[in-house]
Amino acid sequence: MQNLIEKFKELYGAEGEIRQYFAPGRVNLIGEHTDYNGGHVFPCALTIGTYGVVRSRQDRKIQFYSVNFEKLGVIETSLDDLVPSKAAGWTNYPKGVMWAFEKRGFKLPYGLDILIYGDIPNGSGLSSSASLEVLTGLILKDTYGFDVSMVDIALIGQDSENNFNGCNCGIMDQFASAMGKKDNAIFLDTNTLEYEYAPVVLEDAKIVITNSKVKHSLVDSAYNDRRNECEQALKELQQVVDIKTLGDLNEEEFEAHKDAIKDEIRQKRAKHAVYENQRAIRAVEALKAGEIKTFGELMNASHVSLRDDYEVSCEEIDILVDLAWKIPGVIGSRITGGGFGGCTVSIVKNDAVDTFIDSIGKAYREKVGHDAEFYVVEIGDGGHVI
Ligand code: GLA
Repeated sequence: MQNLIEKFKELYGAEGEIRQYFAPGRVNLIGEHTDYNGGHVFPCALTIGTYGVVRSRQDRKIQFYSVNFEKLGVIETSLDDLVPSKAAGWTNYPKGVMWAFEKRGFKLPYGLDILIYGDIPNGSGLSSSASLEVLTGLILKDTYGFDVSMVDIALIGQDSENNFNGCNCGIMDQFASAMGKKDNAIFLDTNTLEYEYAPVVLEDAKIVITNSKVKHSLVDSAYNDRRNECEQALKELQQVVDIKTLGDLNEEEFEAHKDAIKDEIRQKRAKHAVYENQRAIRAVEALKAGEIKTFGELMNASHVSLRDDYEVSCEEIDILVDLAWKIPGVIGSRITGGGFGGCTVSIVKNDAVDTFIDSIGKAYREKVGHDAEFYVVEIGDGGHVI
């Protein structure tokens, strides 16, 4: 943090009140691609995320600098120019949040000098963009005294991602980054936004994230297609059953009505959404009851469904998961996040963690030709002023 403040002063000068913020990335334990289908998710905030150092200005200028993109230097814009542009690069994320606040009637009265640093690997599916959005929301709330809750900040972040940055994502990532709680996962009903914290008590096991280092871009990927396919399937089901979202159905109800979906692919997509929601509900019950083995089995089933029915995995991720499943002491392993690359999440017995990292690391390099990265993670708090 001290280094970031020094860098800030070097770039923008040392005078005035300088404030610091943090918003985390997230990992989702189960409940994948359910958050735009009215289902449940079970993510937790990480201790890695995005840091911001900020000072108010007298004029309407906004200056951005990212330690992660030093070559881009200081990027200058104005509160009167909150429109997305290719040239704005990463600053489209904070600008989008500013735009979304203004849209809600929260006028930004003066500009800011902002320095950002993130320690989430980009494009890894651990929500670096959502953490930047939540961080920006927090900065605006704190600087201008806007009367918004952390849930509002999550919703504003999602709005900015959907309508300024063009990715039709659900609420999970922003919600986890804003509302995370140390050592807890968040059981969130994305239909009602009702949520409950569930302590993640693994006793003799750890959460290990494995980064395939295959980059994905949600905007360019088939993410929006999946969402459209589900919406279409929902419309077809609504011809025969009275539901508002796919999350309203359980497995039996889905099987009874699935023939209303006239296309095989759409049927598979909807099946995943329905079954994955039920898996998430069961997994949380299992965790609360201390049945970690069941929790792991549900994670594995989640992967199979994301691989075969939802088709958001890729070869490299399947290799990582297959390798993990073979290691004694691995309780469960699956793809996490939007997919098409990114990371897996595994629950690994403490005494198997070293073997996990060594043997998967070696086999992955041999099969794929590049290294994977491993993070043994802690569950952290949501976004906050430092
Ligand atoms: C991305 C989106 C989330 C969610 C996941 C898949 O991370 O941003 O809203 O849909 O994919 O579960």
